[in-house]
Amino acid sequence: MTAIDYESKIPNNVDLSSDRRLQRALEHWLPQYIDWWKEMGPTDFNNNDVYLRTAVSVDSDGWAQFGYVKMPEYRWGIFLADREKDRKIGFGDHLGEDAWQQVPGEYRNWLRRIIVTQADTEPASVEQQRMLAHTAPSLYDMRNLFQVNVEEGRHLWAMVYLLQTYFGKDGREEAEELLERRSGNPDHPRILGTFNEPITSWLDFFCFTMFTDRDGKFQLLSLAESGFDPLARTCRFMLTEEAHHMFVGQTGVGRIIERATQIMNEHPKDDPRKHGVIDLPTIQKYINFWSSSSNDLYGGEVSSNSANFFGSSLKGRAWEQKNYTEHTGLDQMKEVTVWQDGKLVTEQVPLRNAMNEVLREDYIEDNQKGVNYWNKILDKAGIEDFRFRLPHRRFNRNIGSFAGLHFDIDGNPMSASEWEARKDEWLPSEADKAYVHSLMQKCVEPGKFANWIAPPPKGINDQPIDFEYVRL
Ligand SMILES: [Fe+2]
Ligand SMILES: [Fe+2]
Repeated sequence: MTAIDYESKIPNNVDLSSDRRLQRALEHWLPQYIDWWKEMGPTDFNNNDVYLRTAVSVDSDGWAQFGYVKMPEYRWGIFLADREKDRKIGFGDHLGEDAWQQVPGEYRNWLRRIIVTQADTEPASVEQQRMLAHTAPSLYDMRNLFQVNVEEGRHLWAMVYLLQTYFGKDGREEAEELLERRSGNPDHPRILGTFNEPITSWLDFFCFTMFTDRDGKFQLLSLAESGFDPLARTCRFMLTEEAHHMFVGQTGVGRIIERATQIMNEHPKDDPRKHGVIDLPTIQKYINFWSSSSNDLYGGEVSSNSANFFGSSLKGRAWEQKNYTEHTGLDQMKEVTVWQDGKLVTEQVPLRNAMNEVLREDYIEDNQKGVNYWNKILDKAGIEDFRFRLPHRRFNRNIGSFAGLHFDIDGNPMSASEWEARKDEWLPSEADKAYVHSLMQKCVEPGKFANWIAPPPKGINDQPIDFEYVRL
């Protein structure tokens, strides 16, 4: 295990003190980052003590410690998974060569683009979620929100470290721009669409952490075996933190479902909304929105970028070593359905060009497990006439072959006018949003939960559920 140096201004396990130039660059960036956090983070809670976990090692067990921290004083730092001795590149044109410790000149621009795109999502999500604490359904949930926020902040640090260390002046400029773009700002937006969508309710937040943070998981998995070793090691440690974010999302939606089923069983004849909970069809619509938007994050179905990134050994598949025996991706075809000349066409494309689709398929399969978990809650409650589902991958897409077209929830093409007439069946309508927003009232007495969400089965780090997770 590589020890983490917590004595230095920037906690790290990369021996930062031995590289003066880099240390200065990061120390120069630190106050800018803190300014960004104070402006665009959960600003109104900068002075509260929050029961947070902080990484203290990069071992998979026992890597974190818990304690009260004021968020702007959180020890953001740079933690890379340990270096594997004599690591070889596991896929692409450089299969079998030594993993790179420096950026290969010919791939510099692609690599920078990959890192900047990943980096940009991290502060974006903090910005999207910055007002939510004002309507927290409990201290437990508020604390989980803040935990996700500070770790997304740390993920930005992780990526900025790579930019500052390996990309010279360009990297420093990129690092500054990462603090200048703003989620949802029409003139200076974040790079990817989903990260400009407003998160205005806790149902949005839980769907986001379920579906959009899970996209993060798959992007990180595809980079965790990158030929560029510092990126691989960075992503491997980020994955450890990411698991909690998806836990927050999956169980958060689950607890909303659980509460709805309680009301449905108590008042089988009533509209659940009459009792102040979120009805199952509305939850389904939020699932449809966030999962379809997150499907876009994988890019086009057929893509020369994906072929370049895989071929150059920069970005592989999820679990490349574990799940595949062939790692060049050459001389293989993949069946991909696209929209051509006004109809759906299934064609064979070279596998490397279909790597976005490969990753998206793995992602969708993982999402389905979460949906199955929610349906078990319905089973347990004895609800028989409703089951959650994922929308078809063609549904509501803005990127790739199906962008700008219209498909129903099962992926059947439809006209723009049919879509207009029916879209409120599948996506949250203005009335649905107004109803969900009407429920968003702060509930912050220790151990109390808003009426629309069930308490969790247990607290954080073995603390009781009525623990004072945030001192207000
Ligand atoms: Fe992240
Ligand atoms: Fe995350």
